[in-house]
Amino acid sequence: MAYRQSHPGVEPKAACALEWTQHRGSRRLQKLAGIVLAAGKGTRMKSALPKALHRLCGLPMAEHVGRAMIEAGVERPIMVVGYGAERVKAELGDKYEYVVQEEQNGTGHACLMALPALGNRDGPILVAPGDAPLITGEALASLTGAALEHSAQCALATCEMSDPTGYGRVVRDDSGRPVRIVEEADADDSQKQIGEVCTSFYCFEPSVLRELLPQLGTENAKGEQYLTDLIALIAERGGKSVTLKFEDARLLEGVNDRWQLASAAKALRLRVLKRLALDGVTVEDPDSTYVDAGVEIGEDTVIRPMTVVEGDTKIGSGCEIGPQTRVTECEIGDGCTVFMSHLNRARIGRGCRVGPFANLRPGTSLGERVKVGNYVEIKNAEVGEDASLAHLTYVGDATVGPRTNIGAGTIVCNYDGLKKHVTEIGADVFIGSNSTLVAPLKIGDGAMTAGGSVITEDVPNDALAIGRGRQVNKEGWAKIWRRRKPGKKS
Ligand code: UD1
Ligand code: CA
Repeated sequence: MAYRQSHPGVEPKAACALEWTQHRGSRRLQKLAGIVLAAGKGTRMKSALPKALHRLCGLPMAEHVGRAMIEAGVERPIMVVGYGAERVKAELGDKYEYVVQEEQNGTGHACLMALPALGNRDGPILVAPGDAPLITGEALASLTGAALEHSAQCALATCEMSDPTGYGRVVRDDSGRPVRIVEEADADDSQKQIGEVCTSFYCFEPSVLRELLPQLGTENAKGEQYLTDLIALIAERGGKSVTLKFEDARLLEGVNDRWQLASAAKALRLRVLKRLALDGVTVEDPDSTYVDAGVEIGEDTVIRPMTVVEGDTKIGSGCEIGPQTRVTECEIGDGCTVFMSHLNRARIGRGCRVGPFANLRPGTSLGERVKVGNYVEIKNAEVGEDASLAHLTYVGDATVGPRTNIGAGTIVCNYDGLKKHVTEIGADVFIGSNSTLVAPLKIGDGAMTAGGSVITEDVPNDALAIGRGRQVNKEGWAKIWRRRKPGKKS
């Protein structure tokens, strides 16, 4: 990770709550606190969904920021929520403390709302925008480190942007100290030329927030309380702000519209794939592979092109997944092959082979070494080890015993139009091709059904069930019929 020293003496170094306590020597132990600003509607997203909840790599935008804070040593970050507050709280869950900003009167106002939740903590306070999901715990820890090292009232993360449009610009005095931030809307032409921008990541001394936040005015283009104005207030009372300039501007990038969302999602996706690759997973084509942040994949598994792995999926080692496969919230054992298929909330035992064109729906559970072939749909069904469902089959609300073979074209009729019913197929059963199994139904161990049967009654162990019309052969009939064809001589 690349950081550059930007203020005389600023030596960025990773810091965490522990280092902070060491730094304060004999003083009472104080933990790092953190505030995430996530109350905005995100007008530029043009969406009914609050900005904080737009997802990247499977996680809401604000969740990425919250996780980075926790990684940096914040025990329970304070989330400032506002637009769609109830929905945001419900989705982000209880690892955060919530503060509601009823009206969104600016970033400074949002922070002010969090003051009561800070109580009397006297450790450093990280503040982060909820719309910068590429931030890492390591980067936040560095920012804390810079604030502590220099006993600064504020350490501000900055970076040089080739196109700084839309960002607040960092204004320095003659000695190079940051003395204020000018927002794009309030900047004059010369200030707009400044390439170093405020990224909205700060580490404050708590007294600064308590004493200066209530002093923020609204005399600016937007008529809002800007958090950025704290830098000027600190300078006015002779305090010290330092900047930590990040060479990798992407880490701090804000997301204001959907194109920036797509760009940030792509960067995060590559980060996830890189981590997997370095942990021993072969990612054949990072450009067409989508893996969510929470996914775990074992060593020597190969992820082939055009594959999407979502949610809390766990994939074992030595598997081959894809090409053209979507796996959502699944558990897949070691040594499985899954290709050109959809798997959703399914559990797959080790050594299974699934695909092409299989559709495993929620509640599917496959034992070890099960074979599921083309055009097979399974839902809410438990399939025993070494069973085979090789072609053109639907199995729903059923159990299939070990070593059972389900012939091509078998349909389990689990639904009578009013209710769903259960089908129990035993071990070592042979279901003939094109069987129709009408639930509720029990087929005993070792039983067989004749191809083309409609099975409506239970089949005892080891029996053969035939449920079809008997075949009649009419000798010579075809020849006579052909003779009757018009224009055909006898
Ligand atoms: C802000 C900074 C700007 C900086 C940029 C970096 C201010 C005034 N400007 O601008 O200097 O370059 O971030 O990305 O701080 N929010 C609230 N309540 C509010 C307003 C905003 O919680 O009343 C939250 C938003 O949900 C968002 C974050 O604060 O997550 C930043 O707000 P946004 O409106 O995106 O600020 P920018 O215009 O990007
Ligand atoms: Ca923003």
